[in-house]
Amino acid sequence: MLGPIAVPLPRRVADLNQPSVVATAIEQLRPDAVINCAGWTAVDDAEAAPTECHAINTLAVGEIAKACNNIDATLVQMSTDYVFGADKNRSNPFSETDTPGPLSVYGFSKLAGEEAATTANRHLVIRTSGLYSAGEAGIVRGRNFADTMLSLANDHDVLRVVGDQQCTPSYVPHVAKGVLELLMLGRRGIFHVVNNNSTTWHGFANELFRLAEKTNSVAKITTDEYPTAAERPLYSVLATEKFGSTTGSPLPDWKVGLREYVQARNAQNVGSGETKCTQYS
Ligand SMILES: NC(=O)c1ccc[n+]([C@@H]2O[C@H](COP(=O)([O-])OP(=O)(O)OC[C@H]3O[C@@H](n4cnc5c(N)ncnc54)[C@H](OP(=O)(O)O)[C@@H]3O)[C@@H](O)[C@H]2O)c1
Repeated sequence: MLGPIAVPLPRRVADLNQPSVVATAIEQLRPDAVINCAGWTAVDDAEAAPTECHAINTLAVGEIAKACNNIDATLVQMSTDYVFGADKNRSNPFSETDTPGPLSVYGFSKLAGEEAATTANRHLVIRTSGLYSAGEAGIVRGRNFADTMLSLANDHDVLRVVGDQQCTPSYVPHVAKGVLELLMLGRRGIFHVVNNNSTTWHGFANELFRLAEKTNSVAKITTDEYPTAAERPLYSVLATEKFGSTTGSPLPDWKVGLREYVQARNAQNVGSGETKCTQYS
């Protein structure tokens, strides 16, 4: 989306376990903005590795913030709806001013990462949710919920999917466009950038199969029937009024994102063979 004006910093040249190396790389490049999409995203694994998760999702962000200050760059830090969830009675979308309350090591590390990002003089913290995309031709897929469902559909007539976690799965190209809009407008602070409206993973899978013309059935199960190491929020819908009023238009409905994902996959003629996904963030 950014083309040649963006310089990717892959792990081999910018390992967040060596934040001073990352900081040096940033200071040498002297970009106008640093978009930190990297992070420890293995939500369940984090429960057994809190120190390692914290190092990448929190401590490294503080070092990136310092580097941004040294070269007067804006830090864009990607964060998550999993900073919420502790409020078990919640049934209306969380705004940017609501007090967070994570449930998991991952959620706490990302919340602390948000605080670390605010030490950058110019910072933009983007909370998003349930990311998925069709990727680009030639890029390995299978690390998001939609890819996983379509892969499993090849071998299972019936899929059991959690139907009591309400959130907004969001299409990466829409989120990326939203982030760039905020960046170009020079906005700072926290913004929720997700597709419009909400669903459950069960609702998402049903709509995905309808759009992809799959005849598999999707059985609704509860979170208790699908135990995971990390506790997930039962409700983590993010309010997007701030984004909409700032940019002039909210992101499209999540069903529009899903339709574009299916169209993109069809255009790439993606078949089976994706790797199986076990963690979502
Ligand atoms: N996926 C979601 O549903 C979701 C939801 C809300 C928020 N987010 C946030 O959005 C951001 C992107 O998520 P994602 O799903 O795209 O994550 P992802 O697919 O797991 O990618 C994470 C990236 O971080 C890199 N990384 C991990 N450890 C690193 C290290 N020590 N040094 C340098 N790079 C490292 C990985 O590099 P390698 O490719 O080398 O492994 C990978 O490119 C994250 O901040 C995440 O917390 C994601």
